Amino acid sequence: MKIAVLPGDGIGPEVTRESLKVLDALSLPQLTLFEGDVGGIAYKRHGHPLPSETLDMARAADAVLFGAVGDPECDSLPRQHRPEQAILGLRSELGLFANLRPAAGFPGLEDLSPLKPELARGIDLLVVRELNGDVYFGEKGERESAGGREGWDAMSYNEAEVERIAHTAFRAARKRRKKLTSVDKANVLETSRVWREVVVQIADQYPDVELDHMYVDNAAMQLVRSPGQFDVILTGNLFGDILSDQASACVGSIGLLASASLGERQTDLGTFGLYEPIHGSAPDIAGQGKANPVAAILSLAMLLRHSLGRETEAGQIERAVANTLTGDIRGADLGGTATTQEIGDAVIGNLKSI
Ligand code: NAI
Ligand code: MG
Repeated sequence: MKIAVLPGDGIGPEVTRESLKVLDALSLPQLTLFEGDVGGIAYKRHGHPLPSETLDMARAADAVLFGAVGDPECDSLPRQHRPEQAILGLRSELGLFANLRPAAGFPGLEDLSPLKPELARGIDLLVVRELNGDVYFGEKGERESAGGREGWDAMSYNEAEVERIAHTAFRAARKRRKKLTSVDKANVLETSRVWREVVVQIADQYPDVELDHMYVDNAAMQLVRSPGQFDVILTGNLFGDILSDQASACVGSIGLLASASLGERQTDLGTFGLYEPIHGSAPDIAGQGKANPVAAILSLAMLLRHSLGRETEAGQIERAVANTLTGDIRGADLGGTATTQEIGDAVIGNLKSI
């Protein structure tokens, strides 16, 4: 099996290093790792944030382990050269339309959540975010207007796009508590009206799953007021981006949440996917050993589960992380002093005693 490792920028390489240490500790047979440049570092070395060699490497692999992209030194570049285009390019070129972002309260971290501990304890949800459409991929540009320069981005979803992500979400709900909340803004957006109608149609095929609909503004409010009501949240690219960061803060830190981006391509042992923490390159803490590698390590667990058919090892990593978080090894994001490397080492220590 082949894994393409794309550490990227800022804290990306720092947290990816820790997940690779964890992978190494598992001593899995027949695994080959390839490493490629992506993001700002790729732009600086090759003149493009997603060089064709990197894309080819990702295509040839069974899974991609991704760190993060984003570099303040690239902020003034034209959009097509910005580091963030690399992750958008990977998602669309590799057909990764389904982004799974689980958020569950960790025992022992309730006090770190901005929510009341009893609310934080009740969080156990999965955001299923559509990843290949919406305003991120619509036509965009700048034009003159009566009010001066005007930037614009087109938002759209077609039926086929909504159908496939809806199936992903209903199937995920079936394996969980069988409750699906579709989040949209159907009271004002045409995109959302089509979205909602399609979701309702697909629901016929999943009579065992309870479906409800929520406007995104209400969903943001409900997520902090009573997050325990959510099981699976199905939503579009933009709303999912925002709500999943919010869900991470409810759990305790953005440094804790992992994600899987999946498409339709099957590997020998599962589904091809790209796995990454939900956070970005965090330039404010890069190079200081302050990044929490837990999100990256849990992304590795998702990779093993979804792409390599290694459920046992995925579960072991998740338990090792949970055991680490209940101990006193905590990073700065959780009010502690442990470094990125110390947290990685502690997870490996716990993994060995499982
Ligand atoms: P960010 O997620 O990088 O950071 C937000 C805040 O959370 C910062 O204060 C940061 O220090 C903290 N943080 C993030 N990850 C952490 C971790 N593992 N441990 C401890 N603290 C952590 O988002 P921001 O600042 O909005 O964006 C920074 C850059 O990352 C930008 O260039 C942005 O475009 C890019 N970005 C890239 C993503 C990706 O590669 N998929 C996703 C989100 C942002
Ligand atoms: Mg985001």
